[in-house]
Amino acid sequence: MNLSMPQRVLSGMRPTGQLHLGHLHGVLNNWIELQHKYRCYFFVADWHALTTEYDNTAAIASSVWDMVIDWLSVGINPGEATLFIQSKIPEHAELHLLLSMSTPLSWLERIPTYKDQQQKLKNKDLSTYGFLGYPLLQSADILVYKAGMIPVGEDQVAHVEFTREVARRFNHIYGREADFEIKVTEAIRKMGKKSAKTYKNLRKRYQEQGNAEVLSIAQALVDDQANISLGDKKRLLGYLEGQAKTILPEPEALLTKTSKMPGLDGQKMSKSYQNTISLRETAKSVEKKIRTMPTDPARIRRTDAGDPDKCPVWEFHQIYSDMDKKTWVQTGCKNATIGCLDCKQPIIDSIIAELAPIQERAKNYMEEPESVRAILAEGCEQARQTARETLEEVRQVMGLVYR
Ligand code: TRP
Ligand code: SF4
Repeated sequence: MNLSMPQRVLSGMRPTGQLHLGHLHGVLNNWIELQHKYRCYFFVADWHALTTEYDNTAAIASSVWDMVIDWLSVGINPGEATLFIQSKIPEHAELHLLLSMSTPLSWLERIPTYKDQQQKLKNKDLSTYGFLGYPLLQSADILVYKAGMIPVGEDQVAHVEFTREVARRFNHIYGREADFEIKVTEAIRKMGKKSAKTYKNLRKRYQEQGNAEVLSIAQALVDDQANISLGDKKRLLGYLEGQAKTILPEPEALLTKTSKMPGLDGQKMSKSYQNTISLRETAKSVEKKIRTMPTDPARIRRTDAGDPDKCPVWEFHQIYSDMDKKTWVQTGCKNATIGCLDCKQPIIDSIIAELAPIQERAKNYMEEPESVRAILAEGCEQARQTARETLEEVRQVMGLVYR
């Protein structure tokens, strides 16, 4: 068993309805790669949707289904990744509550998204308890699976950092034992002479230099010990970093490169800008949307030369076109030898070709909602098992076991 679980990946997405090309190129393609390499947990963050949509819950359920169908249709594979719905796992809520007891208000108030989002969503009353606590709910999402790697966009990195602080504080408060030093010394002895010496050296190096690589080598050494009890392993892991057992390991953010996928207007593709191409967009609508996309305003007539750097269509070519095609665009645009509609045609063809198999699969899932329900039921069952184990441990160290 790998206690530090460096290879458990977890990420959540709010149910915002049908997904678009921005999600595909920004997030989902990344998830698809990760699922081949790591133990992945991907979940629908429906409680998170409530933190801003508490007065408008009618659309959430259908958004959940649409989103999961889109995940499956693009190739998120339930055979490789565990897919589930947050609210089906009540342990998220229980851990959130327990963590809330020891989380300073000031930590929540200083998270940048708190004030930013309140500013941005001015038409909503977001001076609520749930909204302030939303990053802590996210911490519970992560810590309940002891996930080591959290693929997120730039805007979410602060939440993972916050989660690290929450975990550290929890371990500090509840991982302490009166006889920790004695027990740790005993555990080190049990490793055997050679490993004990390596362990002590690595610990010393880590404490002096704070080198993350040294830490992970030391953690792997502890994980590999065959003759050491689980409790002792946690002591040995905790002792590397401090004076307490590690109950909730600190996660790392896995920064997703920001999506190169621009919207139809050159801004970031986002539902709130109404500049999206949905994964369920019909071929006809794709064609219409691309044909009416703005181009370099200098190209008023077909004979006016343009500059691809001033044109959002060019950014689509960066994603969809090979070298030859891109050269064709560059020369054709700058010398006015191609028209903008000529330039857009290969993009239209590429997007339609990209979406066709996705839509075919989505159609199958929509015709068989039972299969989607079964996939989620199975994922929830798996996730719940892990979450239950963590909560048992958490209750125990907090002294909440009544037997
Ligand atoms: N807060 C994330 C968002 O709004 C979604 C999310 C919820 C999440 N819980 C998470 C992401 C846990 C990663 C890990 O996009
Ligand atoms: Fe944009 Fe292509 Fe028209 Fe140039 S030719 S302005 S790159 S659409």
